[in-house]
Amino acid sequence: MGKFNKTRIVLGVTGSISAYKAVSLLRTLVGEGAEVSVVMTAAAKQFVAPLTFEVLSKRPVYGDLFSEQDPMAHLTLTESADLLLIAPSTANTLSKSALGLADDLLSTVILAARCPIVMAPAMDGDMWNHPSVIEHTGTLRNRGVLVLDPEEGDLASGLVGKGRLPSEEVILEAVEASLARQQDWTGQRVLVSAGPTREPIDAVRFMTNGSSGKMGYAIAQAAAQRGADVVLVSGPTLLAPPANVESISVVTAEEMQQALQDRFSWATVLIMTAAVGDFRPRQVATHKIKKDEWVGEALELERTPDILAELSRQRTHQVLVGFAAETDNHIENGKQKLQKKSLDLIAINHVSGLDSAFGNETNALTVLTQSGDVLHLARMPKLLLAQRLLDIILPLTIMKKAGIQKTPNLRSL
Ligand code: C5P
Repeated sequence: MGKFNKTRIVLGVTGSISAYKAVSLLRTLVGEGAEVSVVMTAAAKQFVAPLTFEVLSKRPVYGDLFSEQDPMAHLTLTESADLLLIAPSTANTLSKSALGLADDLLSTVILAARCPIVMAPAMDGDMWNHPSVIEHTGTLRNRGVLVLDPEEGDLASGLVGKGRLPSEEVILEAVEASLARQQDWTGQRVLVSAGPTREPIDAVRFMTNGSSGKMGYAIAQAAAQRGADVVLVSGPTLLAPPANVESISVVTAEEMQQALQDRFSWATVLIMTAAVGDFRPRQVATHKIKKDEWVGEALELERTPDILAELSRQRTHQVLVGFAAETDNHIENGKQKLQKKSLDLIAINHVSGLDSAFGNETNALTVLTQSGDVLHLARMPKLLLAQRLLDIILPLTIMKKAGIQKTPNLRSL
């Protein structure tokens, strides 16, 4: 039995030079047991003949909005589909979907679809980086469409950049992720912290770090998509809050602690991705300190509260997930933090050299659990990584619940 046995997938193919890669993708999906219907745009047919897809899918290929054979194809195609996969997706199809335009069969199918949608873009690097495409990608992601990032590498233009169709492996991972995780987090109340904190030095200066908040926002978004009630407590970032997530903005470590403390008893899971500053100036000047005032003066620092360690002491039923940024001895240091803060799971970022997690669209993690599991999650887009983490955390919440029921003290409450 294949991985996608009897799964109904609609595969949209658009007019990118990488359309030929959709042939291999189709073969793999069909080989894994999926029932795939292919919809091609007019431009896609310039690159690959529909017959190729027809033979491999053993089904007719759709492309005409006004087909006499099936005038309602735009509705019937996704009515019973488990997933709509657009691979490759051009800037045109991506942007049209964000705007809700429906001027050909594929864009109409996208608009009519009620199933999860995965989009694997492929385009020139400059197009991917165009403000319009950036904005439309953001719109789609906020709506819950899993838009993958294109890969870096040689482009058809002869240039090197970000624009290649994501690898088949990443696309299949995204397909699997979207299919498996429909509403499995329903009933969970998830508190996520994200981003950096900012500690004032004087009226205009502050100490902070390079955390972009992307990992935490991706986790909040993925949990909400999977049915959880989510509160995101975020330090200053440039990111828009994900859809269906209650977002609380904070600045300092103390404000973050207060916001998390207020919601902690409500939560079933706390995921601390925030890069909380460990130090803050002991004294904050209310005015802008003059340059001359600094001469010979050292900035005196004090420790900020360890929010996670403190909440861990107050836990009743919550599953606690920490993140750690380590440059060396990842596993040893991670294990120590797991124990010291009594966490159920710790995810370790490798923060040295090119692999640095900060600000990147992708990340790789090593995950340690209380029961001694060590899992290496390979480099992948942060939203996919978030999905993998949620897959790992969900069983912990179930075990914790079962544990609570077995504990006599708590059962009597
Ligand atoms: O000890 P370390 O800072 O490496 O631990 C990292 C974990 O602890 C992260 O999950 C981070 O969000 C959390 N943390 C915290 N309060 C701090 C520092 C880190 O909650 N002051």
